[in-house]
Formats: sequence, structure tokens, C-alpha cells
Amino acid sequence: MEQTLVILKPSCVERGLIGDVISRIQNKGITIIGMKMMQLNEQILREHYSHLVEKPFFPGLCASMMATPVVCMVLKGIDVVEVFRTMTGSTNGRKAAPGTLRGDFCMSGQANIVHASDSVESAKVEIARFFRPDEIFDYTPDNLAFLYADDEL
Ligand code: TYD
Repeated sequence: MEQTLVILKPSCVERGLIGDVISRIQNKGITIIGMKMMQLNEQILREHYSHLVEKPFFPGLCASMMATPVVCMVLKGIDVVEVFRTMTGSTNGRKAAPGTLRGDFCMSGQANIVHASDSVESAKVEIARFFRPDEIFDYTPDNLAFLYADDEL
């Protein structure tokens, strides 16, 4: 099964939305196999957002991501990278569709509460960036037969 990296950003932590986001993940039937609180620094953000380092908003983005600790998670499920990107919604919360996390919980293109890996390849790199192997608990939930049909597994 696929894995993806999620970061509950300071805008999620500070606004008391950690539980709401985790509820959405669990209600969907996605398995959380890693979870920890971390204080990010500029070094890890320069790697994580390397495609944005030259953008004028990068200093503000860095500051916003270091404003409080974040909660990092590794999620597991069939097609979970795409499934969770769809659940996250488009980058700007004001334009994100209702029913998505950003569409329902934020009004900003920067304070947009969650990060979600955008491909299977970047998920692998991002999980290795934020988690040591011994911090990931790749267990199989007991209710798997009720989450998926046999021919999907
Ligand atoms: P990006 O990787 O383009 O989007 P996404 O998070 O939807 O994968 O951008 C990463 C983060 O950078 C985004 O979540 C918030 C921030 N950002 C800004 O602050 N201003 C901007 O104009 C953009 C495009 C992104």
C-alpha cells in the first residue's frame, strides 16, 4: 500500500484543528502509521520547499511554518497519496472546494492548515526527511476486510 506525508501546519495547531483533521483521516478509513510533534527550522524547510526557495513569499512561508510546532504524520492506504491530496483541496483555502480540508477550515493561501505529498515519489522523499524508520509503525488494521474489497487488496 502507498504511504504519504502530512504536516498539520501551525495554522492548524494554533486554531485547534488537529482533532478535526485527524477525524477526517480516520473517518475516511486511512491508517495513521506515524505521528509526532516537531519544531521545524529553516534548514528542513529549505529542503521541503526547495521548489519555492526563490519565491518572494518564501521568507513569510518559512516564518509561518516555524511559528509553532507542527504535527507530522505518515498515512497508509490504497492510492493514499492521491486520495489525501483530493481531501486537502487546492492551495488557496478561499478557492478550495467545500468538503476539502482547506475548503472547510481555512481562508488563506499560506495559512492553509495542511501539507500533503503531491506524488508517490515525493512522498517517499518527504517521509524519509521527517521520520526515522523506527518512528513508522507499519501495522495492518484489523478491520481491513471492511475497508476494502478482497479484489482491491
Ligand atoms: P505548493 O507546493 O505550490 O502548494 P501545496 O501546498 O498545495 O502543495 O506551495 C507550498 C506552500 O507554499 C503552500 O501550501 C503555501 C505556500 N504558498 C504561499 O505562501 N504563497 C503562494 O503563492 C503559494 C503558491 C504557496
